[in-house]
Amino acid sequence: MGKVIAVAQQKGGSGKTMLTAQFAVALVESASVAVMDIDPQGSLTIWGKLRASAPKAAPGLTLATVAGWRLASELEKLKAAHDYVLIDTPPVTDSDARRAVRAADLVLIPLNPAPPDLWAAEGTLRLAAEEKRPAVLIFNRAPAASRLRKRMEAEIAARGLTLLEVALANRAGYANAFADGLGVTEAGPLTQAAEEIRAAVASLKARMK
Ligand SMILES: Nc1ncnc2c1ncn2[C@@H]1O[C@H](COP(=O)(O)OP(=O)(O)O)[C@@H](O)[C@H]1O
Ligand SMILES: [Mg+2]
Repeated sequence: MGKVIAVAQQKGGSGKTMLTAQFAVALVESASVAVMDIDPQGSLTIWGKLRASAPKAAPGLTLATVAGWRLASELEKLKAAHDYVLIDTPPVTDSDARRAVRAADLVLIPLNPAPPDLWAAEGTLRLAAEEKRPAVLIFNRAPAASRLRKRMEAEIAARGLTLLEVALANRAGYANAFADGLGVTEAGPLTQAAEEIRAAVASLKARMK
C-alpha cells in the first residue's frame, strides 16, 4: 500500500499546491505517484492539464480531482496502485481537511519562516494532533539565513514540533516550472531548485520508512 502525504495549512499562498506538484514530480523519478486535488480552487488540476501537453513531463504521474467527501474511496484505489499519494488541500481546517489529515501517513505543513505563518498553522497542527498523525513543518520561500528564521527554528524546536531540515528558497524557477505544468526537476534538472527539492524529498522519504 502506498504512503499518503497530506499537504495542509490554513494560510492561503503558503505553497501547498506548489509543494505538492514539485514533490510529486521529484518522487516520480523513482516511484509511482498519484496526486489528489481536493481544493475547489483546482490549481493543481489546472497544472495537471498543462502537464498533459508539456513535452518535458515525465510519464507515470496520476492526477485525481475529487470532492473531499469522496476522498476515502478514491484514496483506497490510488494507494493500491501507487507508492505515494499526495493530497493538495484547501486553505481551511474544515471536514475536508480533516479527512485528508486522517487519511495521511504524514501531514506536510508549508510555512514562511515568520510568526503569522506559524499562527496560521495552529489549526492544522491541532487537526494532526487530534487525528494522531505526524506533522512536519517545512519552510517555504525561506531566506538562507535570517534572524527571524533562526528565531522561528528555535520556537518550533522548543515546542517539540518537527521541522524538515531542508528549506525551500524563494525561486522564480518554482513558479516558472509550475506555470508550464512541470516540476523543477524536469524543467531544470541541474538547477539549485531541483537539488533543493530532491534533498527535501529524500528527507521526507526517510521519515516515512
Ligand atoms: N518557493 C517558492 N518560490 C517562488 N514562488 C513560490 C514558492 N512557493 C510558492 N510560490 C508561489 O506562490 C504562490 C502561492 O503558492 P501556492 O502553492 O498556490 O499556495 P497555496 O496552495 O498554499 O495557496 C504561487 O503563485 C506560487 O507559484
Ligand atoms: Mg493551493
